[in-house]
Amino acid sequence: MDKIVIQGGNRIEGIVEVSGAKNASLPILAATTLTKEKCVIKNVPQVADIFTMVKILKSLGAKVQHSGHTVEVDTSNIKTPVLSYKLVSTMRGSICFLGPLLARFGRAEVSFPGGCVIGPRPIDLHIKGIRSLGAEVRLEHGYVVANAKELKGTRIYLGGAYGSSVLGTGNIMMAAVLAKGKTIIENAACEPEVVDLGNFLKKMGAKIEGLGSPSIEIEGVKKLSGVTYSIIPDRIEAGTYIMASAMTKGDVTLKNFNLNMLGAMQDKLREAGVSIHEKNGHVRVRREKVLKAVSVTTLPYPGFPTDLQAQMMALLCIVPGISVITEKIYPERFMHVSELNRMGASIMLEGPSAIVSGTKRLSGAPVMASDLRASAALVLAGLVAEGDTEVSRVYHLDRGYENLVGKLQNLGAKIRREKDIR
Ligand code: EPU
Repeated sequence: MDKIVIQGGNRIEGIVEVSGAKNASLPILAATTLTKEKCVIKNVPQVADIFTMVKILKSLGAKVQHSGHTVEVDTSNIKTPVLSYKLVSTMRGSICFLGPLLARFGRAEVSFPGGCVIGPRPIDLHIKGIRSLGAEVRLEHGYVVANAKELKGTRIYLGGAYGSSVLGTGNIMMAAVLAKGKTIIENAACEPEVVDLGNFLKKMGAKIEGLGSPSIEIEGVKKLSGVTYSIIPDRIEAGTYIMASAMTKGDVTLKNFNLNMLGAMQDKLREAGVSIHEKNGHVRVRREKVLKAVSVTTLPYPGFPTDLQAQMMALLCIVPGISVITEKIYPERFMHVSELNRMGASIMLEGPSAIVSGTKRLSGAPVMASDLRASAALVLAGLVAEGDTEVSRVYHLDRGYENLVGKLQNLGAKIRREKDIR
């Protein structure tokens, strides 16, 4: 197993290219099963979750050619709409096969994904949605087993205790595009990744209106076609580099990135005193003055993304004053708190809120990442800590950040990957 070693205290500067969005690529790759024709997906990030997705497609019987950032999928030979526990257990995102497999085969069996380290991950909204479309759903031996002779369009309210669901909306959209008649999804997720999936489906021939709004209307069609499509940039990866620049008093330019996808984060960072400018499609991030404490609440899009909560916490650890971070999507997503505290941060948990008292300095330490975004937060903390920080369990980062070490090295960070021999 590898670890990442960071020698803190170096300012980062230069240009970084943002990879394609993991969370758009996953449902779009699942959606290729909606047609028997070949799809070519470009700008797919080279991260472990994508490699898992390719394995799943192959296990279903699809022919997949994966080269660089392009994935070509031919699902004409898929015979079995069954996703085994072995594959699903490594990646919760594989639940997004439920909708498209059901739409194409009238049957789908997907292993129940269970919880994960960031808290419970229920799928009641996914099940409610496909039941509303007419599917019969049973939970058997750890699998969600869905059957439908015909899916019929209907009005579906898709909100839960924590608001809309990203993959829930995606799943229902993918099932409804081939259903008979009109489906209206109310309280649909508005995340850019859902819009990207919708645009992909539209390019395939689906009839969808209202993408990016809480009400999506889908008029079912008989058949979808194979297309070539390019994935949007990863706003969470972009946000991570933006924070890295702000934390190290850096000067980083993100190439070809549309800041509109990060409205709430931009707003908070400006409030804290970070300078962010967009010019000719590039985003320049500098920190020229002392930052001030801010309070942040994560919310569904266009609110502050939960996937940037841990990284924002790392930043606020070194900002004078008291900041409060409230997690409204995953109230237990605070596994990074104890590790940041080991590095000298002062964070107290109070229910779904973290109270961060900014400290002058963090101190490098061996730390252990517990999930993808928590790992990113520890790397950020390591960039500004005194001495060396060793982040172990790097496989979490590999799931969602393409070449993180290489990209930070290019920006001048003293960071390397090593074998962890402990
Ligand atoms: N929820 C329910 N019932 C459901 C589904 C969700 O109550 O049936 C709850 C969840 O427990 C959570 C909230 O609704 O409290 C939102 O969950 P959502 O369904 O939107 O999450 P997801 O679609 O499973 C995606 C991303 C996550 C990201 C969330 C929220 C992918 C593959 N994953 O998950 O990304 O945190 O949306 O934005 O798209 C990550 O990349 O690190 C990551 C965890």
